[in-house]
Amino acid sequence: MRRLRLGVNIDHVATVRQARGTAYPDPLEAARLCELAGADGITVHLREDRRHIQDGDVFALRRHLRIRLNLEMANAPGIVAIALKVRPDEACLVPEKRQELTTEGGLDVAGQFEPLRRTVRRLSAAGIEASLFVDPDPAQLEAAARTRAPCVELHTGAYCGASGAAARRELERLVAGARLAHKLGLRVNAGHGLNLENIGGVLRMPFLDTLNIGHSIVARAVLVGMAAAVREMRRAMRAYRGGE
Ligand code: PXP
Repeated sequence: MRRLRLGVNIDHVATVRQARGTAYPDPLEAARLCELAGADGITVHLREDRRHIQDGDVFALRRHLRIRLNLEMANAPGIVAIALKVRPDEACLVPEKRQELTTEGGLDVAGQFEPLRRTVRRLSAAGIEASLFVDPDPAQLEAAARTRAPCVELHTGAYCGASGAAARRELERLVAGARLAHKLGLRVNAGHGLNLENIGGVLRMPFLDTLNIGHSIVARAVLVGMAAAVREMRRAMRAYRGGE
């Protein structure tokens, strides 16, 4: 059996950079560290409002990354045009709202079937594996298969946000969703809200190819890297000789 792949979403490295308009931290540098640490791929979401990842980041990642690049994107003409230029290994279509903090729900593939199918066809013709971000809902999965996308990403957010019996129910939906997606011939990815506490449950989903994880890894990196960053600054301040 092939090992379960990890795609690291580095959007929030760019969030820290954009907060101050500096050139650092550089998402490409973060991606290289992810690669060294064993990530199988890098995911970035080029939002229409460009709140974190910028166009230049996506092109730089495409140029320099050796591992897979997955571009998360809305089905919007300007963004699709960029995807066709960048040619990531994979493009995951997601619903996008301007006001949301993060992607809130899965796509309504059944309701937006034609525009999605058209974009899937254009991406596939360019050699890009199209993926559709969906809730583990049979009607959505069946519609996803009809678009001829090779892949779906199951939205794990509801499971990650629940506890007790509700979490068990959400996990059952994810397990059944993964099984159905596989039966429909779809490659199965999953992601959203995953962290070290809830990952155990998700590992019970069958037929998984890739887990895409972002916020919790970037948040954890801030903590595990804090002591080293303070030590670096202390070292840099050693040159101080007082006021004389
Ligand atoms: N997968 C998709 C489709 C997403 O939209 C996101 C958030 O950008 C993720 C995975 C990663 O979610 P998180 O940052 O909560 O790990």
